Amino acid sequence: MKDENFLKENNARHMWHPMAHPADSLANPPKIVTGGSGVRICDVDGHETIDAVGGLWNVNLGFSCQPVKDAIAAQLEQLPYYSTFRGTSNDAVIELSYMLREFFAPDGLTRAFFTSGGSDSVEISLRLARQYHKIRGEEGRTKYLSLKKGYHGTHTGGASVNGNANFRTQYEPLMPGCFHIPAPYTYRNPFNESDPEKLAQLCLSALEDEIAFQGANTIAAFIMEPILGAGGVIPPHPSFMPGVREICDRHGILLIADEVITAFGRTGSWTGSRHWGVKPDMSCTAKAITNGYFPFGAVMISDRIVEVFETDTTGRAAIGSGYTYSGHPVGAAAAIACLKETERLKVNENAAVRGDEIFAGLQNLQAKHEVIGNIRGGHGLMCALELVSDLDSKTPIDKPTAAKIYEATYDAGVMVRISGPNIILSPPLVITAQDASDIVSALDSGFEAIK
Ligand SMILES: Cc1ncc(COP(=O)(O)O)c(C=O)c1O
Repeated sequence: MKDENFLKENNARHMWHPMAHPADSLANPPKIVTGGSGVRICDVDGHETIDAVGGLWNVNLGFSCQPVKDAIAAQLEQLPYYSTFRGTSNDAVIELSYMLREFFAPDGLTRAFFTSGGSDSVEISLRLARQYHKIRGEEGRTKYLSLKKGYHGTHTGGASVNGNANFRTQYEPLMPGCFHIPAPYTYRNPFNESDPEKLAQLCLSALEDEIAFQGANTIAAFIMEPILGAGGVIPPHPSFMPGVREICDRHGILLIADEVITAFGRTGSWTGSRHWGVKPDMSCTAKAITNGYFPFGAVMISDRIVEVFETDTTGRAAIGSGYTYSGHPVGAAAAIACLKETERLKVNENAAVRGDEIFAGLQNLQAKHEVIGNIRGGHGLMCALELVSDLDSKTPIDKPTAAKIYEATYDAGVMVRISGPNIILSPPLVITAQDASDIVSALDSGFEAIK
């Protein structure tokens, strides 16, 4: 391992960071994280913080999950790689597919297609949706609908259904045939509607309108996060996702749940779809499936789709998609151990309780600090604070002020994530009540620093 001086001197000099301007990374070198234990991380200077980012929404069980580490080490010893392309499989992935089928049974999802991460899962689900319609003879159903503010990774298909200009503009033209409807985002929306239930209905009407405009028989799927995450943690009214399900059913459109961050307990329910009482046609998973320790993902597929593919006799159901690392045995072994720990610890229950504590703490902070324009949460361990320089005009906070809050919060012992004007909290699901309280106190110090 190179020494501390080497690391600081070379930080951001020889690599480009995802989601960052290279010049900004050079001017403001990133924090160098060198250790992690429990729910805490440690930087190169020895400064320890609670990781209220949870890695990147993925380290749900914290950094010391020994069963997952042991499973990875043992699998590396036994069989470090073999593919699952036609004609071969491996023992770990077979066991995992059995476990996932049981875990996702209440969502009506009974088959897995394995991937190397979230963007891959989204891409596969979009491709399978078109193929499903083609097998059934509805070749014209090729378009996709999604939500503004949604995040579905950065592959070109996923970026095309993404609802945030930051991930689109520099990469256009994107895939044709993708259309977006307004998000149920009460703080800012084109309807100027702040009542969550009314807004949900308006967004559903916009969906109906877009379907009528495009022609239902041209649309393959609607993809949505059950709770929008990277777009700023936007929980919809409980009527929204069931409403989407009903509209999709009525028009023969598949519903893809992008559960890359919401699957495995983060919302307080085992999946985001279950949280809203909805059964999607496909569900994209990744991240916490291995606790972030190995790049891995799975698209879970419903019986409705399974039946069409598995009974096809024309050859059109042959799957022309797959990754070298689909069903990687080390990832599968990590996921088996991770799923067992996730269920043994009932992390969904802790997420619900700790999430309520943090959300209550954020409400107190909002009463105290005028810079907090809007707080969102109340559904497990995913919360956001939207920061403004003026409460009436809702002008988003400037970058230097946000950076000051971030640094002061970090100095006070908590790593948070700044995304545009939002502070996003997505800590491990195993945090204690003390950790939850420490996260809120550190944020309080962060806001005091700009007074
Ligand atoms: C909802 C959602 N979908 C897809 C992705 C992309 O996943 P990955 O970064 O693993 O490719 C993310 C990543 O944050 C996500 O939050």
